[in-house]
Amino acid sequence: MPQELVVKQDKMPLSVILPTYNESQNITKMIDSIAEALPRNTPAEIIVVDDNSPDGTADIAANHAASLAKQDKRFRIRVVRRAGKQGLSSAILAGVHEATGEIVVVMDSDLSHPAHTIPKMLEEIKQSKCDIVVASRYIKGGAISGWPFKRKLMSKGATKIAKYSLGIKVKDPMSGFFAFRRHIIHGIKFDSIGYKMLLEMLVKVKGARIKEIPYTFTNRCAGASKLDSEVVFDYIRAVWRLYRYGRAAPSERRTSVRFFSKAGRFYTVGASGLLINYLVSFILTTLFQEIWYLHAAIVGITFSITSNFILNKIWTFEDMDFVARKTLLQYGMFAGFSSFGALVQLGMMYALVEYQGVGKEIALVLAVGAASIGNFLLNKKWTFKEKVWS
Ligand code: GDD
Ligand code: MN
Repeated sequence: MPQELVVKQDKMPLSVILPTYNESQNITKMIDSIAEALPRNTPAEIIVVDDNSPDGTADIAANHAASLAKQDKRFRIRVVRRAGKQGLSSAILAGVHEATGEIVVVMDSDLSHPAHTIPKMLEEIKQSKCDIVVASRYIKGGAISGWPFKRKLMSKGATKIAKYSLGIKVKDPMSGFFAFRRHIIHGIKFDSIGYKMLLEMLVKVKGARIKEIPYTFTNRCAGASKLDSEVVFDYIRAVWRLYRYGRAAPSERRTSVRFFSKAGRFYTVGASGLLINYLVSFILTTLFQEIWYLHAAIVGITFSITSNFILNKIWTFEDMDFVARKTLLQYGMFAGFSSFGALVQLGMMYALVEYQGVGKEIALVLAVGAASIGNFLLNKKWTFKEKVWS
């Protein structure tokens, strides 16, 4: 579910978020490597977010935190314990929710992300006064060590999808290693499923200044990756939602522009329907010479109503929810309004021609115009449940 983030007052210069699931073999080394890498003059909090790992990661982290805190007063280490495995993005969000640092660093806990890159990221944020620093595998100087070909290909593929469908300029938007000024995400609603926290931030934080610095990703030595096919499917769904989010960007476009662009699409679909209607009846009467022309017309109408419905659902009203019950109901309403529109059109033509003495062609244009405007508004409001003026 989308979670709206409320950002606390800064208490620390830096928070490091470490999501863990079964990282018992890595977590102490991970914390030590951060403690070693951070500049002497930087107090920091480290927030481990564990999803009740069966291998006891949370306890190991808590014990280690207690002993380290005695030795080194710069650090405050906390372990957030959650009831069960809820996914990486959601763990990061829970960590950010607890964080009080002015700058937040997010990284994996399996030693794939080198802690010695953190000071460079902090330096970059301060020097270039940017809001987000992405540690990148895909810019000059960056690399991946130890991944099989298949995994590299997947990562590249996911990156290309983000680039082309969402217009992302960052070279490594799938990076799990990044730093940002905490206040920039205040009030943003994040979708907490899956692995793509950074990507979501890149789409939703408007006007952020972003920099990338290179690092070498090293495949984990201990434990196993949690990236499974579910994470991949979630990614595809997430990109689709972010794509719509970007296009909808409600504040960015004026209502009139959105309204008329939808009306334009609705009319275009209507025109395609006429063509389909005509083509289907034509093909039927040519193929089956004995078919009654009105039967052919009925099939033609059914085809065009169906194709109009599908096109309007996907393209005009951007509704990708194809749950059977809801879709059938919408289809029924759409077909109902179409038939009603046809009746209105016939009635209006009759009235105009017979009682007002309007010419037949003009009456046709007027009646089609009125019926289709009515149709558009009715379907907008009732079939696709949108506000009329939106
Ligand atoms: N709390 C919690 N809950 N932590 C999780 C969960 C979860 O459900 N799933 C994964 N993690 C933690 C892991 O314990 C690890 O510290 C980190 O998140 C990354 O998980 P991995 O399973 O090691 O991911 P990966 O190495 O396959 O994927 C890496 O590359 C991806 C891009 O190619 C990561 O850097 C990803 O963040 C990145 O998107
Ligand atoms: Mn990993």
